[in-house]
Amino acid sequence: MEKTFISDLKSGQMVRSQFAVIRREVSTFRDPTKGVYLSMTLGDKSGRIEARKWEVTEEELRSINAGDVILVKGQAEEFRGELQLNVQELTLVAEEDISSAYFLPAAKKPFEELGQEVMKTVEGVEETNIKKFLQSIFSNKEFLTLYCKAPAAKHIHHAYLGGLAEHSLEVNKVASMVAGFFENADPDILTAGSLLHDIGKIKEYSFKNAINLTAEGRLTGHIVIGNEMVKSQAEKTGYLSQEQVQHLSHLILSHHGEREQGAPVLPQTLEAAILHYADLISGKTNQYYTILKNDAQKGEEWTKYDRLLQRYLYKGFNAEDF
Ligand SMILES: [Fe+2]
Ligand SMILES: [Fe+2]
Repeated sequence: MEKTFISDLKSGQMVRSQFAVIRREVSTFRDPTKGVYLSMTLGDKSGRIEARKWEVTEEELRSINAGDVILVKGQAEEFRGELQLNVQELTLVAEEDISSAYFLPAAKKPFEELGQEVMKTVEGVEETNIKKFLQSIFSNKEFLTLYCKAPAAKHIHHAYLGGLAEHSLEVNKVASMVAGFFENADPDILTAGSLLHDIGKIKEYSFKNAINLTAEGRLTGHIVIGNEMVKSQAEKTGYLSQEQVQHLSHLILSHHGEREQGAPVLPQTLEAAILHYADLISGKTNQYYTILKNDAQKGEEWTKYDRLLQRYLYKGFNAEDF
C-alpha cells in the first residue's frame, strides 16, 4: 500500500497511510460529560506527529497499543504552529501486512556489518580471560543479532536500529585511542566496558515498529540491567577473575559519570573516566548530527530551536549537506 511519510505532510492534506503508534493515551475532554478521546504520537522513519481521534469506540481503545501499526484515514492540520493529524478512521494492521522498513530508521551500516565489526573487536582483545568472556557473549548468534538491531535511545542520540552497536563501537574507538595516551590504562577491560556499557538497553527498549521503554526499562534502567546481565554471565562462565568482574561492573555502573545523569557510582578508575568521556563524545556528537540531519527546514541557515541543547544550530557552513 502507498505510504505517506510524516516529513512530507502539509497542512490540509488528506492522508491514508500506515503509521506506528509510539504513544497512546486515553484523555478526558475538558467537559467530562463529553467522555474520552484518543491522543497518540504516531511515527515512521521520517519523523513523528501528534494525532487525535475525537470519537472513539470501546474496541479502538482496547485494541490499539504502543508498538502497533495502524492504518489511518485523516487530515493533517496545523495546531499551535505544529502539524497534527486529525484521525477519522483507524484500523489495526495485521503483523504480515506491516512493511517494517517504513517505520524505524536504521544505522547506515547493515546489521551484519556491525556484527562483523563487533566480532573483529572481540578478536582484537589480548587478555585471554576477557577475550573468552566476550566470545561467550557475542558468539551467540541470536544475541549478536539482537545487539546489532537494538537502538541506543528513544530520542537524542543513536535512536535508530543498529544504534546500540554503532554507539558501542564508536565508544570503543575513542576509548582505545585515549587509553593509548597512558602507559598503565588497561585497553582490554576498556574494550569489554565499551562493548557492554549499554548492554542493558537490549532489555530497556522494545523496538518493534517503534522504540519504546519496556516496563523493565522504566523500573530498573539500563545501567542496573546491564550490570546484572554481565555479572550473571561472568558467574555462569567463570572466565573472569573476581577483580575483573569488579572492574567491569564498575565501568558499567559509573559510565554516566554524574549522579544527576543516573550513575549510581562515580568513575573511580582511569579506565572508568576514559569510558565515561568516550561515551559522552559518541553520544553528544551524534546528538548534534541528528538535529542537523533531521531538521525539517531544508536549505535554511538555522535549525529549529532545540529544547534539549537550548540553542539553534547553524547549517550555513555546509548547507548542501543539511
Ligand atoms: Fe548509558
Ligand atoms: Fe552509552
